Amino acid sequence: MPAAPFRTATYEAAPNIALVKYWGVRDVALALPFNSSISVTLDRLRTRTTVSFDPSLSRDTFTLNGRPAPPKALGSVSELLDRVRALAGTDDRAAVDSTNNFPTASGLASSASGFAALAGAATAAAGLRWSPRKVSQLARFGSGSACRSVFGGFVEWRAGTRPDGRDCYARPLFGEGHWPALRDLVLLLDDAPEKEVRSAVAMQSTVSTSPEYARRQEELPARLGRIRRAIADRDAARLFPLIMEECDSFRLVCETTRPPLDYLTTTSRALLAEVRALNAEAGRPVAGYTHDAGAHLHVFLLDRDVGAVRRRLRKVPGIRESLVLRPGPGGRLTKRPRP
Ligand code: DP6
Repeated sequence: MPAAPFRTATYEAAPNIALVKYWGVRDVALALPFNSSISVTLDRLRTRTTVSFDPSLSRDTFTLNGRPAPPKALGSVSELLDRVRALAGTDDRAAVDSTNNFPTASGLASSASGFAALAGAATAAAGLRWSPRKVSQLARFGSGSACRSVFGGFVEWRAGTRPDGRDCYARPLFGEGHWPALRDLVLLLDDAPEKEVRSAVAMQSTVSTSPEYARRQEELPARLGRIRRAIADRDAARLFPLIMEECDSFRLVCETTRPPLDYLTTTSRALLAEVRALNAEAGRPVAGYTHDAGAHLHVFLLDRDVGAVRRRLRKVPGIRESLVLRPGPGGRLTKRPRP
């Protein structure tokens, strides 16, 4: 195929939070996980990325929130663009412009929305008319969790079993409107440190050193099924304890990694205890917490309980900001390439 003329496309994608965590890569070259995961794509937050392949450029450029991105970030973007160039048969360099409508290092998983948006924009700009599934399979090479942000609502990333990875893909389980009463109270904490080690690297040290990892892997298929069914039935009383159990299992394998991966802070530990206490006092699972490889918390609950739970949790000192989010839409092209 001849080198494409100047072509540009824009794609928007949102962060997601995992209810069943991806943690461990079985094939680094193909970016295949050991276990399937389930997430919720969040509303209101989004990354908007424009990719313009331009034959006059001598190298890729990457502008993030209006400023030239650090070299490391440009390197990861170029790596994904190289895959697109190879598949589209072009050598053209690209200008990438990306903006988040939320703080990039806020702990709101901007790598998931970022690489989903990059994969969607770059493939369209290169003239590849790919299905969302194929876009998602590309996005995971930038960040594993990004493959889930291509879809909205409740999403499952199937690990698959084939060595060639053809049965490894994300797929929508239930759309964003499936459970109208469900909310994610996101608590951004003052004492959360900046992420030091990429999760992709940290998880591999868990796989090779945590004595708890094998047990977690054995437990996961059953837990995954139970969580999928609780979501299908919109059953908060079943879902909330299950996502806390899953989060605790994820945290245990992190804490038993050598050297330990300790993502929580004093504030997040106090908040986990507060959620457990309020459930115990109510005599029912009012809320369920989860967190990713960081200290910020996501507390799932029902619309009717948001006011009371938020008031109670806000008494714990150290919360910088709280947001009430819903399941949101998947990624979409907002500007297609010129014909
Ligand atoms: C704990 O795929 O986001 O959030 O490659 O460092 O971007 P990077 O890792 P990433 O790891 C996600 C880890 C997790 C669990 C999850 O989202 O499933």
